[in-house]
Amino acid sequence: MIQLNETPKAASAKLVAWVKEWAAICEPDALYWCDGSRAEYDRLCEEQIKSGLAIRLNPKKRPNSLLFRSDPSDVARVEKRTFIASEKQEDAGPTNNWIAPAELKKTMLGLYKGCMHGRTLYVIPFSMGPVGSKIAKIGVELTDSAYVVINMIVMTRVGTKVLETLGNGEFVPCVHSVGKPLAKGESDNGKWPCAPMEQKYIAHFPETREIWSYGSGYGGNALLGKKCLALRIATVQARDEGWLAEHMLILKLTNPKGEVKYVTGAFPSACGKTNLAMLIPTLKGWKVETVGDDISWMKFDEEGRLRAINPEAGFFGVAPGTSMKSNPNAMLSCSKDTIFTNVALTDDGDVWWEGIGVDAPAHLIDWKGNDWKPGQVDADGNPVKAAHPNARFTARACNCPAIAPEWEDPNGVPISAFLFGGRRPSTLPLIYQARDWEHGVFIGSTVGSEVTAATLDVKVGTVRRDPFAMLPFCGYHMGDYFAHWLKIGEKGAAKGNLPKIFCVNWFRKNAEGKFMWPGFGDNSRPLAWVFGRCAGTADGVDTAIGVLPTPESIDLTGIEDQVSKEDLAKLLSVDVEGWKKELAMIKEHYAKFGSKLPKALVKQLETLEARLG
Ligand code: OXD
Ligand code: MN
Repeated sequence: MIQLNETPKAASAKLVAWVKEWAAICEPDALYWCDGSRAEYDRLCEEQIKSGLAIRLNPKKRPNSLLFRSDPSDVARVEKRTFIASEKQEDAGPTNNWIAPAELKKTMLGLYKGCMHGRTLYVIPFSMGPVGSKIAKIGVELTDSAYVVINMIVMTRVGTKVLETLGNGEFVPCVHSVGKPLAKGESDNGKWPCAPMEQKYIAHFPETREIWSYGSGYGGNALLGKKCLALRIATVQARDEGWLAEHMLILKLTNPKGEVKYVTGAFPSACGKTNLAMLIPTLKGWKVETVGDDISWMKFDEEGRLRAINPEAGFFGVAPGTSMKSNPNAMLSCSKDTIFTNVALTDDGDVWWEGIGVDAPAHLIDWKGNDWKPGQVDADGNPVKAAHPNARFTARACNCPAIAPEWEDPNGVPISAFLFGGRRPSTLPLIYQARDWEHGVFIGSTVGSEVTAATLDVKVGTVRRDPFAMLPFCGYHMGDYFAHWLKIGEKGAAKGNLPKIFCVNWFRKNAEGKFMWPGFGDNSRPLAWVFGRCAGTADGVDTAIGVLPTPESIDLTGIEDQVSKEDLAKLLSVDVEGWKKELAMIKEHYAKFGSKLPKALVKQLETLEARLG
């Protein structure tokens, strides 16, 4: 093995020993310590282009941007190959896949042995959160994928400064390999390297705070700072240390008087978190700025307020459906310095995807690298998509026009409200407020979303329960996680500064199957109600399910022709029959957690049942 650059002076003896240990297992041809510099990023991009794995987009259209096409078998997070390998199966709980850690390590070590032949082992020291922030955590990822390195440079803070801050301290060790060793003289030949599905493992060892990933080069399976560290391992750390690691966007909301509130929101994947985080209000005088679009880490300050940081430094956004209409700020964020994966390529070297807001040109190269024409169908007569539905853009947060100036404040921003929500065509109102923290935890624990794509083992159109939008991301027993939320409430109650909790549903449909609420920028209207409830200026009525806005307290100025008074009344009413059906579904969902389901939540369920009559 050749070492391509010097071991950084700031690297601790423990870190160096750990890197050596893994180099001996994986047997790479070369070893390289990443410094996170621009020159390094540019060099790695050039290498990827030369090797045929990346295409440079037309700099006049999309400056400093690349397009990658993954293997068709490696296009998304693989939940069925994701494991929480706690010592006891009970600690992983009913919502996680489990294998005993010793057994899993044995299997994976067998796969890791010699897995980096013909490749470079990159060492990526990264910080989740502003370097040096008391809320931030440091990880070190070992990977044989240069694609992972450049994505990590965008999505996290990488480099020597991280090592200097780390010193001899604790880091989360993260090991990743694409699982495709090369024979002597063999090259990838422009083909995305990965292992077959049954060899893919996205493994978490919560007791030892380790992450081992093998066989996939895509997204959350491979960029180990995001879902693996910032959620699955961080939830365990947060439980033990008394804070919250959540699948939540963070936004800054400013009212016409210039007063500010910070709001976080937990929504299952594909419910528009990025759109909400970057929303442009249609309500006059209001402003939304972005602090984060996917993850929020929150710790109590001296005044008992939860302060949040966004542990990430970029957006790994879903491209299809993103347009200048649905999310102009996301479109502008990826107008330069962006890594695209699995979108279509235009003849003039730019990108295109379904729902980009402009018609497809007469010819494209699709995400598989094939010629594509509008209206093209496959052998079975089904339309062929030019971009993969989970095609992504990796864009720098600093390129987002709506980024809040304080998005990197190491102290975090003080949170006034939490939103929970999902896609619910029926029953759930546009917005309501929890009566108190415990009721809010009940709402969070019962979040559900309509299944919209047949990629999961759940029928399209049914409601998939996704508590706190954390179903695939909680690193321990979900029942214990609910208990942790209740404990946080007890801890915060003394100082009286806990965030207020709301449930929102932008996706209610009428009898004709049409959306009843326009959504997007008009979501600023319920957000204004949230602001008012936090400021003590907005009216609400206590109902069986919680506090609903009075119809007058949702400002419809300018959209009266889109939302009639009758529609608004429906959107803000309690559908008793629907809620009775909901109750039955919640009971079924709660049954999974057995004796770990906190008593306080059982009581909440009983209260709801009694109130519905
Ligand atoms: C994501 C997800 O990619 O939640 O953020 O799946
Ligand atoms: Mn997410």
